[in-house]
Amino acid sequence: MSTQHLGAGVQDLPVELVVFDWDGTLIDSTAALTDALCLAAQDLSLPVPSREKASHVIGMGLRDALDYAMPSLPPAQLPAFIERYRHHFLVRDALLQPFEGMVELLDDLDALGAPLAVATGKSRAGLDRALAQMGWRSLFIDTRCADEGLPKPDPWMLRDLCETCSVDPSRALMIGDTTHDLGMAAALGTRCVAVTYGAHPRDALAQWSPAAVVDTVAQLRAWLWPRLAAARHDLPAGWHWRSVCLSSELLEGGAGVRFDLRPASADSARPAGAQPAFVVRYQGQPRAYRNQCGHVSVELDWPAGRFFDDSGLYLVCATHGAMYRPADGSCAGGPCRGRGLSPLRTRESNGKVWVAFEIPAQ
Ligand code: FES
Repeated sequence: MSTQHLGAGVQDLPVELVVFDWDGTLIDSTAALTDALCLAAQDLSLPVPSREKASHVIGMGLRDALDYAMPSLPPAQLPAFIERYRHHFLVRDALLQPFEGMVELLDDLDALGAPLAVATGKSRAGLDRALAQMGWRSLFIDTRCADEGLPKPDPWMLRDLCETCSVDPSRALMIGDTTHDLGMAAALGTRCVAVTYGAHPRDALAQWSPAAVVDTVAQLRAWLWPRLAAARHDLPAGWHWRSVCLSSELLEGGAGVRFDLRPASADSARPAGAQPAFVVRYQGQPRAYRNQCGHVSVELDWPAGRFFDDSGLYLVCATHGAMYRPADGSCAGGPCRGRGLSPLRTRESNGKVWVAFEIPAQ
């Protein structure tokens, strides 16, 4: 693994948004994309590009890609070429897998509370299908596709993600396997990490002076981890952040969102051992508590999600009417008799509400 420096100061800034390329960076799809391009040319009896040429265009917009790899493609044959390309890619699409170690890395980044995004040369339809296949829809706070704006290396996708997530481009990180990814990042002054296990060779990637060039997902993890420490927001060891709802779901004094403090992998059928909790918005801030009355150990809300009284000033237990102050969960009257709610640590960023969870001992 080699590391090169960007510019004064930028290299040392904390990483506040991690933007991944898709094909060749998260997913091992370089061979499938290259095959599809070459086979489409073969089907139409057109000159078949070399595999090096075909793999070079991965991540580019369609027009640029075809200008480079298929310069002799007659415009009249473009629809037929696209149809054959899609056919050959879709045959392979369902079999595509993430690179070894990538599922675990993304899970760990998510548990850390690191905001993750995708900027890809895929179409929106293609990315949505791939996200569903991988079960990764909720993993990324936002995604951008080439057909929604301007393709790489134009910086549109990365700039738009940074603006939407309110992150300065100098505090974002682009991770990609092509010079198109690196060129996009360079145009915005965004750090990038080049991975060599995808489409483009190391020499071509290194010419863009990425912050690091890594050969494996394990090396990527090793580079990334210390730079994301700030995302922990001083959580003690053994704790992590988990997003429990979108910010837009919590209205001031409105319905609360219920969640379970058990790990996400636990059985969701609410067996013994369930640890119900909830979050509401009060004075602009998310406030989360264990859903357990100080009077008797029952959940507060009835119907589900109704925690505020009619005034919107107190949280109230539906069973016997114990009242709690939303700002700190302390008892404000009724049968709780000084026994308040147990508060949970929260934060809000990138359109999500996060709650600190303790990771259970194995
Ligand atoms: S159980 Fe909540 S007030 Fe009695």
